[in-house]
Amino acid sequence: MTKILITKITMTNITMTRMAATQQFGRLRHSILISLIPFMLAGCGSSDETAEPATQRLILSNVHVEGYPTARGLRHFEKLVQEDVLLGTRLQPDLQLGGVLGNEKEALEKLGFGGIQMACTSVAPLAEFSSTIGVLTLPYLFRDPEHLWKVLDGEIGDELLGSLAASGLMGLAWYDAGSRSFYNRERPVRRLADLEGLKIRVQKSEVMREMVEALGASPVSLGFKEVYTNLHTGSIDGAENNVPSYRSERHFEVAGYYSYDRHSTIPDLLLINLDVWKRLLPEEQTALRSAAKQSSIAQRGFWRDYVDEALVAVREAGVEINEVEDISAFQQAVQPLYTKYGERYGDLVTRIRAVE
Ligand code: GCU
Repeated sequence: MTKILITKITMTNITMTRMAATQQFGRLRHSILISLIPFMLAGCGSSDETAEPATQRLILSNVHVEGYPTARGLRHFEKLVQEDVLLGTRLQPDLQLGGVLGNEKEALEKLGFGGIQMACTSVAPLAEFSSTIGVLTLPYLFRDPEHLWKVLDGEIGDELLGSLAASGLMGLAWYDAGSRSFYNRERPVRRLADLEGLKIRVQKSEVMREMVEALGASPVSLGFKEVYTNLHTGSIDGAENNVPSYRSERHFEVAGYYSYDRHSTIPDLLLINLDVWKRLLPEEQTALRSAAKQSSIAQRGFWRDYVDEALVAVREAGVEINEVEDISAFQQAVQPLYTKYGERYGDLVTRIRAVE
């Protein structure tokens, strides 16, 4: 009896030990598999020449809605990549619009650590990812849109695109985002004094905050997709943006005064994560950059068409539009920003102004 009992216990122990060992091995196998997933998914950097190169998914984040000129430009980019003989089988762009992957700041952070592979954002929140690109956000820097595009399409533009490398980002092509002016719920802004005391939403940008302060209003940093609700509830009085965004985000419904002072001409930028970029073959990099540049040319055309349409639409909706009367007072008021940022941006301001 005792013998039978001992045998039973021993058998049970052996079974349990076996089970534990199997479970442990299962867990080990599981954790090895988990740790291999990134490599299996990326499938890149393989030295096996015979293996089919894996497809790299390029999740691309943007805040705009379908049909907006920037979104149309990015759809065009997607199509160019899909149809390219070299890139079509290798890269799989996946455009996510409407800020579903977060506001621009969050998208840029995800892009930096590789959570997403591409993004197209305004240059304003990018300033903290580069020591120089923020120069483009300084108010009243460009004489007109021609001046801006001469700078962006030239040597300075290329220099600024490369300036993001230290943050793990690579700039591919500039997109048009027009010029930004103030709009609010209270009154037309004709003179500097009309801005006084207004709570104005700004992008996540130090320069934009300081500019609004220098003009006598109070800046409130908010993500793009939070502006409508905050205008609606009255927790902010106004914001500043181009007419296309004012229209597409329907801000005109809750802030009926749009006053042109064209304080900044901040472009958008199509970006890629630097590690993803480096894993591409040189000929793939050339093809991808070319698709980005072609899409930016198309986007500028979509932009020109949409600006007029947006202006007509907001006018018809009853928006009061005016030109600021004393623009030189506005320009004068922001001069302290040039003193402060002049040092940070070195001779860039002078070089930009010298571009004819
Ligand atoms: C523009 C720009 C966007 C940006 C937005 C903003 O619409 O194109 O990229 O997010 O301004 O004010 O946040």
